[in-house]
Amino acid sequence: MSLLFIAPDRDLSSWEDAIHSIDPNIEIDIWPAIKDKNRVQFTVCWNHPQHLLDGFPNLKAVSSLGAGADHLLSDKSLPESVDICRVVSPSLVQQMKEYILAAVLNIQRNFVHYIRQNDQKRWQPHNHPSPKNLHVGIMGLGELGKPAAKQLAELGYQVSGWSRSAKKIESVNTFAGKDELHKFINNTHILICLLPLTDKTRGILNLEIFKQMDDRGWIINVARGEHLVDEDLIYALDSNILQGAWLDVFSEEPLPDKHAFWNRENIIITPHIASITKPNEVANQIVENYKRALSGMELNHKVDRELGY
Ligand code: GLV
Repeated sequence: MSLLFIAPDRDLSSWEDAIHSIDPNIEIDIWPAIKDKNRVQFTVCWNHPQHLLDGFPNLKAVSSLGAGADHLLSDKSLPESVDICRVVSPSLVQQMKEYILAAVLNIQRNFVHYIRQNDQKRWQPHNHPSPKNLHVGIMGLGELGKPAAKQLAELGYQVSGWSRSAKKIESVNTFAGKDELHKFINNTHILICLLPLTDKTRGILNLEIFKQMDDRGWIINVARGEHLVDEDLIYALDSNILQGAWLDVFSEEPLPDKHAFWNRENIIITPHIASITKPNEVANQIVENYKRALSGMELNHKVDRELGY
């Protein structure tokens, strides 16, 4: 039986090594080199070519190589009988907390402006709010959103959180569901998106939301590019509804050269690096789920197809 990795344009040799360091007997294929399609029972994918996964008659389960599984759920050819799971690791949580804290601090302390002023040899101090007067809103309070919200609250920021179902987090003002979205957004100065991408959350970062935020606020998107309506962001920035955007994810990645987001002072771009899955840290989870799938056991970190995460 074989475990197949499919991740176009990625060097997967470290993944193969990490799996073999746990169990050297696992037979591994790396797409597109597949020895025998009939032997493939488990695949690990990142942005796989759609419609590829219905070509394995004995496929039992598929794991995302990262925390998000939207790239698997959007493939309508994936047979219903195939279970979907993802990886979760303390390192993914830690990296996301670091990234969000770095972005929030840079915005709060005006470093985004000072870096630009360096180029112009301009000496100009700016006022900055204290954390207790800075209202940060986090959309999505799951494995990554909840620890990020807790961290900011512990540091004294005024934090609100919004999720599909009600959640309680100490020192965080939580809201749930569509009905409370407006109340959640109201007065938010920095809005952070950590939602899973589903039909209900696609395009949620739009002009209507931006207009409800604090005047000249910021958005930080570390979820998926499709959460954001690109044209609405450009409009909101150009009309001073928003002051800036800090983006790690984009509808098309790598972000094309001609994209309107490049070369704008008020958009900070990072190349989808907020939280990167490291092979050695999750190989044991993949091996465990591979073995579970083979023996018909329930998978860990299974994705609910209905909910979309
Ligand atoms: C990264 O975006 C992930 O889903 O792990």
